[in-house]
Amino acid sequence: MRSSTLTWASSLCLLSALTPLISPVVAVKENDFKKCDQSGFCKRNRAYADNAHANGALWTSPYNILPESASLKDGQFQAVILKTINKQGETVRLPITVSFTEAGVARVTVDEERRQNKDIELRHNSAARKERYNEAEQLVIVGGLTLDKTAKAVGDDSSTSTTVQYGPDGQFEAYIQYSPFSVEFKRDGATEIKFNDRGLLNMEHWRPKVEAPAAKEGEEAPAPPAEESTWWDETFGGNTDTKPRGPESVGLDISFVGYDHVYGIPSHAGPLSLKETRGGDGSYTEPYRMYNLDVFEYILDSPMTLYGSIPFMQAHRQDSTVGVFWLNAAETWVDITKEKIRSNPMALGAGAETDTKTHWISESGLLDVFVFLGPTTQDVLKKYSELTGYTAMPQESAIGYHQCRWNYVSDDDVKDVDRKMDKFGIPYDVIWLDIEYTDGKKYFTWDADKFVDPSGMGERLDEHGRKLVVIIDPHIKNTDNYEVVSQLKSKEFGIKNKDGGLFDGWCWPGSSHWIDAFNPKAVDWWKTLFKYDTFKGTAENTFIWNDMNEPSVFNGPETTMPKDNLHHGGWEHRDVHNLNGMTFHNATHLALMSRKSGELRRPFVLTRSFFAGSQRLGAMWTGDNQASWDHLAASIPMLLSQGIAGFPFAGADVGGFFGNPDKELQTRWFQAGAFYPFFRGHAHIDARRREPYLAGEPYTTIITSALRLRYSLLPAYYTAFHQAHVSGEPIIKPLYYTHPNAEGGFAIDDQFFIGDTGLLAKPVLTEGQTTIDMFIPDHEVYYDYFDYSVVPTQAGKRTHMPAPLDTIPLLMRGGHIFPRRDQPRRSSQLMKYDDYTLVVAVPRTGGRAEGSLYVDDGDSYDYEQGQFIHQAFVLDGDTIKSTRASGSGEPPKKAGAWLKAMADVHVDKIVVVGAPTSWAGQTEVTVTSEGQTWTAPLDYTPASGGRAAFAVVRHVNARVGSDWQVTVA
Ligand SMILES: *[C@@H]1O[C@H](CO)[C@@H](O)[C@H](O)[C@H]1NC(C)=O
Repeated sequence: MRSSTLTWASSLCLLSALTPLISPVVAVKENDFKKCDQSGFCKRNRAYADNAHANGALWTSPYNILPESASLKDGQFQAVILKTINKQGETVRLPITVSFTEAGVARVTVDEERRQNKDIELRHNSAARKERYNEAEQLVIVGGLTLDKTAKAVGDDSSTSTTVQYGPDGQFEAYIQYSPFSVEFKRDGATEIKFNDRGLLNMEHWRPKVEAPAAKEGEEAPAPPAEESTWWDETFGGNTDTKPRGPESVGLDISFVGYDHVYGIPSHAGPLSLKETRGGDGSYTEPYRMYNLDVFEYILDSPMTLYGSIPFMQAHRQDSTVGVFWLNAAETWVDITKEKIRSNPMALGAGAETDTKTHWISESGLLDVFVFLGPTTQDVLKKYSELTGYTAMPQESAIGYHQCRWNYVSDDDVKDVDRKMDKFGIPYDVIWLDIEYTDGKKYFTWDADKFVDPSGMGERLDEHGRKLVVIIDPHIKNTDNYEVVSQLKSKEFGIKNKDGGLFDGWCWPGSSHWIDAFNPKAVDWWKTLFKYDTFKGTAENTFIWNDMNEPSVFNGPETTMPKDNLHHGGWEHRDVHNLNGMTFHNATHLALMSRKSGELRRPFVLTRSFFAGSQRLGAMWTGDNQASWDHLAASIPMLLSQGIAGFPFAGADVGGFFGNPDKELQTRWFQAGAFYPFFRGHAHIDARRREPYLAGEPYTTIITSALRLRYSLLPAYYTAFHQAHVSGEPIIKPLYYTHPNAEGGFAIDDQFFIGDTGLLAKPVLTEGQTTIDMFIPDHEVYYDYFDYSVVPTQAGKRTHMPAPLDTIPLLMRGGHIFPRRDQPRRSSQLMKYDDYTLVVAVPRTGGRAEGSLYVDDGDSYDYEQGQFIHQAFVLDGDTIKSTRASGSGEPPKKAGAWLKAMADVHVDKIVVVGAPTSWAGQTEVTVTSEGQTWTAPLDYTPASGGRAAFAVVRHVNARVGSDWQVTVA
């Protein structure tokens, strides 16, 4: 969170770097953040691309594989690339490895051989490491690297190229051309992805600094050539980045052959289908940037960087998805252009008239790229998730509603909100405390005047199964008599400045130091701070929010840390910047897992900054948005992008952080937020109070219905989280993902499916709107969720629907079954042992519908020992069956406490929407389960007007954890 009216400003007004923040800003100042041509390496690489382009066929990439260096063995191709660096033909050696994994992923890694040349010793900053940063893998990759030893060379011309056949059934090929170096990745013989096709590979090799000739008497020193002006230092906004290693960027062009849509590389406030970035109508002029920054009140429809980055991109055309993952933690820019294919040289699939060409540029580090050849989005995401990890199973409460503001000012305030939510019958699970709960912004302390009895407050919340989240940020106040900072100093666990001293910067507490969570010892120390008896006032129902971990440094360049700061192991901040937030999130996640010995509970930690892999550690939100309709609208594509980039536990501040939403906006935002995987209302300290009960009628009632809808769907959401946990699937899914051949849906990013429920939602995102046009991707039947009317649809067309303020456009697609809990209660924890309702949406042609339910104790890791219930449901003609889901293994020999309690939990009700007319006149069903048979009443309501026929079976009374069958007639 970020203040636009800095209360501490008066004491710091001497800091000129802060001036831009002190003026009353209404939106982020674009000029406070770099454009490509203000970032030396980006500008150079774009110029390199322009030069190559301008030279057309005359341009030859100066990178060539030395043929005699090439070998293929045990799933790895190895060689040396020679880069010609001048007209005299001098070269530098760049070792390349292309690895082929058992899962069929190819990985191209290019490093630089260190030359034994004293000239390229560092000029200063001698503590800094001298090789390219090569440890991102250790923090990001958690599996999937087993090599495919059966990968083999095919074809014969091994003096000029190597072709490697790999992947399941040898379906994929990598054609590695030596001179100039390029790689083509093929699936079933057709080229899908090309590296260095345009010759933009650029590894700025290490070089000695040639000191400029001294100025002659009475003359100015000659300026270095423009292109070199930012090689050795660079200034932006009054901050100078010293560059002890000189220029060392990596760039590569990656072409997606026959693909007209690319998605991913969050986080950006723009459309799901990424825009072109170099000229052309409606395109951006700047590349997409990934450099985690505190970009408060960010502007919309922009490639500007935000708080977190996942450099993973998918390309999609009808019935084919491929992807790349650019493993680099330094500042990164990506240019995107699309080119129409004039002649169609190969029989590609339909919709293959366009190539999408991308150009990736990072400031330092290895060139390290993973290639996924699909053919489905599910395949791509699954393999990406095998590498970077799956979404952790959440604390069950964490998928309920979170009530936050900056700030609930006292423990009495918290208790008052809690009481009023109950009084108005508004469900919620978690209440949050922003920075003001602390004693003077010293984390792990409480403001003793305002939070007199934090333990009592926590106990009070616990009475209704509720939780408390408190904020803990990575900046540690530099002050006397503060145990945390004295330990950080004495143990040297802080991030260092370029000279090796402890880095000091400004953040909420004023002068601060930053924990270096790249240091395992610092992580161990961090863990000790969260012990229940150290962090007094916290308890089992306290969880944590990590903010400002980009890191945000108010007086730093672009509000972050100087790039020449130093981390554990001597790496420059430049090398690891985009990983910084994740390492801090990781430290807190581990800390929550070790608060008490023997306590094995799932943590909940929200983070603002993130990288590939952060999905293993908790949830993210989209940072400091605004109470405006366009920010509400922007939230949907942003969250869809998170989902398809492997980090689906994502939300946006409901109501908007800055400003005051009017009641219509607030209401619509709750209706949209009810579908966010992470669902939190939040508000700035200057914003008026806006707890849902303050909205007044009819708004409070409408908001409460949206919240109750979410709570009734929690079983479906939890099941979707489990799917994310085992297969990397998004929680809310865009249409290209669910309908990969429905071209009309590829650019749609304002509606989505929820898990595998078949629920299709399109929240209202504009003011005064009372109807909506929903895109229907297929020929299936769609029922209105609330009144069971059959929506008049036509595949590939939009259907017009009423959507007055009290209505959320939500459809049920035929062919699905989803679980629900219909008894409204105050929190998810109070619903834990409630019975279930199953909703069955009969498909257009009758016949089969399918769905599932996954549930576990929502808190421990006992599910890893089989303590869960996972049932698959099938409607087939006149029977509905529940059987243990395949892949769930045997039930555990001994049921734990939770599983035992679940023996009393039943499927109580089944609603069959679109029930066959043959059921008319039936009044009973037969239920068979656990060797017994009984009957249950059935009510059949025939179709009428536009409403589908439906049947309701009550008192089914089948144990949810057992197999059962319901037969009509
Ligand atoms: C998390 O911390 C542990 C312990 O220091 C370390 O082994 C692991 O690599 C860290 N992971 C991330 C993502 O920072």
